[in-house]
Amino acid sequence: MNNLKELFPILDQSFNGLPVVYLDSAATTQKPTSVIEALNKYYREINANPHRGAYTLSVMATDSFEQGREKVKDFINAKSSKEVIFTKGTTEALNLIAYSYGNFNLNKDDEIVIGITEHHSNLIPWQQIAKAKGCKLNYFYLSPDYEYTQEEIDKKITSKTKLVAIGHASNVLGTLNPVEYIIHKAHAVGAKVVVDAAQSIAHRKVDVQKLDADFLVFSGHKMFAPMGIGVLYGKQELLEEMPPFLYGGDMVEYVYEQETTFDELPHKFEGGTQNVEGVIGLSEAIDFINSIGIDNIMKHEHEIISYAYDKLNELGFVKIYTTSNKDLLGSVISFTIDGIHPHDLATILDSKGVCVRAGNHCAQPLMRYLNINSTCRLSVSVYNNKEDIDALVSALEYARRLFGYGSK
Ligand SMILES: Cc1ncc(COP(=O)(O)O)c(C=O)c1O
Repeated sequence: MNNLKELFPILDQSFNGLPVVYLDSAATTQKPTSVIEALNKYYREINANPHRGAYTLSVMATDSFEQGREKVKDFINAKSSKEVIFTKGTTEALNLIAYSYGNFNLNKDDEIVIGITEHHSNLIPWQQIAKAKGCKLNYFYLSPDYEYTQEEIDKKITSKTKLVAIGHASNVLGTLNPVEYIIHKAHAVGAKVVVDAAQSIAHRKVDVQKLDADFLVFSGHKMFAPMGIGVLYGKQELLEEMPPFLYGGDMVEYVYEQETTFDELPHKFEGGTQNVEGVIGLSEAIDFINSIGIDNIMKHEHEIISYAYDKLNELGFVKIYTTSNKDLLGSVISFTIDGIHPHDLATILDSKGVCVRAGNHCAQPLMRYLNINSTCRLSVSVYNNKEDIDALVSALEYARRLFGYGSK
């Protein structure tokens, strides 16, 4: 794949004379020129409140917004655009499912199962619902190679399981979770499955019909679109039965003094003024991904992440927290270096122009399970290349020297 950095203006900058080596796309991706220009065009030519005006600008804003929904529908292969609900992001989408579906379908002594690797936004909503409804919250735990085995999944999904919420790929370990197997097992006992695709949507084909996911969620900003826009996919028959989550303008049919009837899907779940700019950016981001081809993206990133895995291993002083099975490796690797706190390490890497994340990555239960406080995390996207990994490796060697370890 050609070097795509030039399509991302922010990567053309330098700080202290050093080029930006951006290895934090799991937190948020950078934005290609096409997306930035689409936002600019929106405010110059189209901006108006959608769904509300009879005048041309408002109709144009409505059309752009609804075309964006069609684009998302095709991108994830949903059956109908009624199954595509726009949210602020993954977090809001997961809360919507927990409070609307969970509150009305889960009962005392039902079991909810989630992974120990879940991001807090796919953990706390289930914890809260479990407490409110008297459900039991169970966890899939990891094998020594940081994977969920079939044995573990078979053990945790029981006849009492009513809901399973699982990340498609871990934002800390980078491992791809066996979501197909989990969905198959959950459906066999009549449980519904929520897939958090925040860390897979920009990296591999996500086909909701093929997966047979009941719900699937993701954020635009992790797939080249702006912040503040996300998607909740849900099977139509489930969404039809669920009550609204946010009440207010635009999501109603008739409002009386004491009663209200609600609009049809998808608008029933989209209360208040919507993020048209975000949807336009998301739509453009999907065009960007399609122009490269999601399979090409996956292949390219796999090459880079495998290279990173090998290079970190070769250093000999880096502890890696991810699977050794490269087929199950997504676009993220967490690591630590003995004797250097991850925050110090990230700051030293920054002094060499290398941007990585340090901390608990919104996964405190996982950190406790692994008996650590934090890690450094590198993550890759379309614009990264092997030189970026080489820059990281040489910055890691520099950090070791700075702390007086070894001669490397
Ligand atoms: C796996 C996963 N789930 C959920 C989220 C939350 O996404 P957002 O902050 O965009 O709502 C993230 C963000 O890092 C994530 O990586």
